[in-house]
Amino acid sequence: MQLDRDDERVLSGEFGETRQRLMELLVGLGTVYGAEKLVPIASAQVSGASYKTIGDWGLEWLSSLDARAVVPAVLNPVGMDLERWQEMGVPGDFARKQEEVVRVYRRLGIRLECTCTPYYLSLTNYGDHLAWSESSAVCYANSVIGARTNREGGPSALAAALVGKTPFYGLHRVENRRPTVAIRVEGAPDTPDSGWYGALGVLAGKEVGARIPFFSGIRPNRDSLKTLGAAMAATGAVALFHVDRITPETRVFPFETAELETITITAEEVEAVWSEIPVEAIALGCPHCSGEELARIAALLDGRRTTKPLFVFAARRVIQEHAVTVAAIERSGARVYADTCMVVSPALERYGAIMTNSGKGYAYLPSMCGAEARLAPLEDCVAVATS
Ligand code: F3S
Repeated sequence: MQLDRDDERVLSGEFGETRQRLMELLVGLGTVYGAEKLVPIASAQVSGASYKTIGDWGLEWLSSLDARAVVPAVLNPVGMDLERWQEMGVPGDFARKQEEVVRVYRRLGIRLECTCTPYYLSLTNYGDHLAWSESSAVCYANSVIGARTNREGGPSALAAALVGKTPFYGLHRVENRRPTVAIRVEGAPDTPDSGWYGALGVLAGKEVGARIPFFSGIRPNRDSLKTLGAAMAATGAVALFHVDRITPETRVFPFETAELETITITAEEVEAVWSEIPVEAIALGCPHCSGEELARIAALLDGRRTTKPLFVFAARRVIQEHAVTVAAIERSGARVYADTCMVVSPALERYGAIMTNSGKGYAYLPSMCGAEARLAPLEDCVAVATS
């Protein structure tokens, strides 16, 4: 690997032991994947933030680090709303450990935005090199924005944040961003619903694994693209996808798909993913809600009262910027929480069955919360929460 003079100085320990160790990690990773150099990044997004997922071992490792981020870096959702954790029913022991994790990240200069939708908070541009680690955020950055990031692990994203660079391989290279499989969707609805695109993503992810799909036959909006990518990243390992005439790189590069294996998915197959099991709670906002999604939830709840717990998750800044909408949602009895999510918080572990419009939530709720999961369109989720 070709290191420049500044890289060599970091590697020699001139900028402290932490940066030296983390540079060793990046160089090791780059060597394994055949990177020719390190590339400067515009931002980092660091997973491994919930005490539920990192435990004491992760906390100990983080506590051993002593440096500060040199590029804008945000944290993934943690295990609780940092202000309303008691209301969520998070146990005190867990909360104290989580606060310790948060303190360490603050000391490392990671912004406590605690979200998997950092693209709502600061500008990420087409062509930017990033080191993001949450799989849905990676998918959105690559596919919808046209930025370039591999699917980093928590430690490698943190290393990139503290060093300011990441190894130049994989999806950082334009030639690796071509589609490798085609998916033709038949009978897609005209109006993009997150639950429909979540179910499509569940199926597509299983089919394509880690390949780069090129979709035709769908007209998703930005929120549906977010849901689709999140689900494919969960049931497969998709980090980039293209949608004919929708996503930016299909307009920049003349992708040739005629030679690719083509998979057909029909609307009947998508809707067969939806199930009818009885549920104890409803959870929305995986990935975290946009302002438009909050508005849609508020409109569906208008004048109704919840009869079952309804959790909605979004980035704190998005919640603050849509305070009136959030207040309208909460008037129904629903709760809109920041900093955390349905999967990484222990708060949802007390329910045996949870309904969601998220394909990713549907994929992870059983293993991460021990709950049966039901996937459905947003409208049905709100109807069940208020029936
Ligand atoms: Fe985000 Fe949590 Fe879903 S991190 S994508 S809301 S599992």
